[in-house]
Amino acid sequence: MTHFFTDNWEKVQNFQARPDDILIATYPKAGTTWVSYILDLLYFGNAEPERQTSIPIFIRVPFLESIFPGFPTGLDLADNSPTRPRLIKTHLPVQLIPKSFWEQNCKVVYVARNAKDNAVSYYHFERMNKGQPEPGDWNNFLQNFMDGKKVFGPWYDHVCGYWEKKKTYSNIHYMFFEDMVEDTGREVERLCSFLGLSTPIEERKRITECTHFEKMKQNNMTNYSSVSVMDFKISPFMRKGKVGDWKNHFTVAQNEHFDEHYKQKMKTTTLQFRTEI
Ligand code: A3P
Repeated sequence: MTHFFTDNWEKVQNFQARPDDILIATYPKAGTTWVSYILDLLYFGNAEPERQTSIPIFIRVPFLESIFPGFPTGLDLADNSPTRPRLIKTHLPVQLIPKSFWEQNCKVVYVARNAKDNAVSYYHFERMNKGQPEPGDWNNFLQNFMDGKKVFGPWYDHVCGYWEKKKTYSNIHYMFFEDMVEDTGREVERLCSFLGLSTPIEERKRITECTHFEKMKQNNMTNYSSVSVMDFKISPFMRKGKVGDWKNHFTVAQNEHFDEHYKQKMKTTTLQFRTEI
């Protein structure tokens, strides 16, 4: 962890969730912003059109554990949020989620992305974001990723932790980035069903279109263009949005090494990912 996510630790752990809060949980770079925007449009797209054109997505959906200099903390944003339900984002692994979310039986939307593409996306994010640790070269980054030496810990434990939690906590909707790329409309429909929303099909179609990669990349409220610690000349936040970009990064040797290690780390879980579609 970096201090941006631990400086408010006790207050975060004591956060008082409300029963209608919706927690969006992900390992970094799994599609958090995409799902946040979909949820925001589902709940507030029609009722509050100005929200869509004037408030960046990272304000609309507070990042619970964050405490960045010169910026309201995730807790402040959540506590002062005028909307119901509150949409709240976190990258905390399941065992570190404030307990009030479970006590209040809040809905949790978890998005997972295959490890290889997740690692590639994370590497470019660390290159362009001055608030992140230096990634080193790709080979170095990949080894650290495999060793779990990343902010928010090992990818393996994160995705498996929420997958296991589903067995005892039914209010989790576990989604995959690859499914969203394959058929966003279907995933929006599944989300509505989980959330108990009867959003009309035309509206769902509109949301699917608005949240397309190219649209979000052009949209200053969703592309993070106003965040000064990110250097888009190095790599944009909305980078490629694809499944399978790992093939442009992994050497044959890295891929074999990764696959071997992956098999070991994931040998006891039923969780399966697609690395291409
Ligand atoms: P890439 O770096 O592979 O392009 P997060 O929001 O969790 O930080 O995830 C960012 C990743 O999700 C980036 O992946 C980004 O391009 C991708 N992404 C965001 N919105 C998307 C969309 N509408 N369609 C496809 N990918 C999207």
